[in-house]
Amino acid sequence: MTKGIILSGGWGTRLRPLTCTIPKTLIPIVNKPVIERQILLLKEAGVKEVVLAVSVMSDIIERYFKNGEKLGVNIKYTQEKYPRGTAGAIKLAEEFLKDDNFFMLNGDVILNFNFGEMLKQHNKNQCLGTIASKIVDDPSPYGVLIVDKDTNQLLKFLEKDEYYPPNGKIVPMPINAGVYILEPEIFSYIEPNKKVSIEREVFPKLAEKSKLYHYPIKGIWSDIGKPYELLTGNILLMKDLIRNLKGQIKNLVDDSADIHPTTIIYSPCVIGSNAVIRENCKIGPNVVIGDNVFIDSGSVLKNCLIYNETYVSKQVSIETAIVSDNCNIKRDAILKGNNENLVILSSYVEVLDNVELIAPPSISLNICHHEVVKESMK
Ligand code: GDD
Ligand code: MG
Repeated sequence: MTKGIILSGGWGTRLRPLTCTIPKTLIPIVNKPVIERQILLLKEAGVKEVVLAVSVMSDIIERYFKNGEKLGVNIKYTQEKYPRGTAGAIKLAEEFLKDDNFFMLNGDVILNFNFGEMLKQHNKNQCLGTIASKIVDDPSPYGVLIVDKDTNQLLKFLEKDEYYPPNGKIVPMPINAGVYILEPEIFSYIEPNKKVSIEREVFPKLAEKSKLYHYPIKGIWSDIGKPYELLTGNILLMKDLIRNLKGQIKNLVDDSADIHPTTIIYSPCVIGSNAVIRENCKIGPNVVIGDNVFIDSGSVLKNCLIYNETYVSKQVSIETAIVSDNCNIKRDAILKGNNENLVILSSYVEVLDNVELIAPPSISLNICHHEVVKESMK
């Protein structure tokens, strides 16, 4: 029976200050932790048992998923005393995974595609491993796949910084999407009790031996390495989820949300359970509001993510920003990012009346958790 393992370690340094209080793999993507969405996709493909390879903030992850009963899958954990690297982490779960092929996922990618189809292709090719791929315009931050276009066989695997584009010209290439199906034979290529990287030490060797194939993803893939990608990845998935509902539905609004009739919603938007939005607000486009969020009258929100339990007072304006859980934004405050430079509030931040937080032209404006912002920053 095919099982799954999700890599849930790593500090998520590029997502600070959000990851100071939330482990990277619990970051909400359209109001569900990124790995919860992955577990649900695994379940759809028939997977019933999943291991989470945890290290940083493992207690928070275990408290959230427990034994998986709520999601209808059996969840186990492997705990690393120190980070073992991507291959070392799965080696610790060898006993659990040794009987059949298994899915291995990077726990920091937004996905929405049919895992069952990928498994079918893997079984047809009878290979040691299948790597899901996505073509991106600039492959430099990722592992690059050199493939045989006719057979889908992987000819070369080059991790980031090992790939040099021909003539220095960046062109679209298929990259490693961080989703694999592997046969238990993989474990014979990973030395035990050592830190080992699957991308640098295992895949290149296997590609040379013609043991790997790639599977081009027909659906959504997005990395959440950096805050801007987190924002655009949420929007991408939100649009996909709404599109898949078909019909006339333009927003995903929980039945329990209480939205005043004078408030205007510009689609696409997602509004979570028990959210309250008072009169004369303008919400959207491209806004994801979490559970138990309160937005008072006259506030305007555009292109932003608001995590659970946050309070937004009257006449507040939020644009191109990520506001984490339990924040308190007071009257007439303004949060405004620009293009890729966001305003980011970590958990429990308080922004006082009339404060203006404007991201500078070339860098995001980050506020650490529990800070009380009394003065404007521009
Ligand atoms: N348990 C555990 N232990 N998990 C780990 C460890 C470890 O020592 N090191 C990394 N991880 C987890 C991270 O939390 C993440 O979910 C995943 O493994 C990949 O690590 P990243 O550090 O995020 O790597 P990356 O994003 O720079 O590159 C990887 O992902 C790209 C796709 O997003 C590579 O696999 C690239 O080839 C790939 O293109
Ligand atoms: Mg990553």
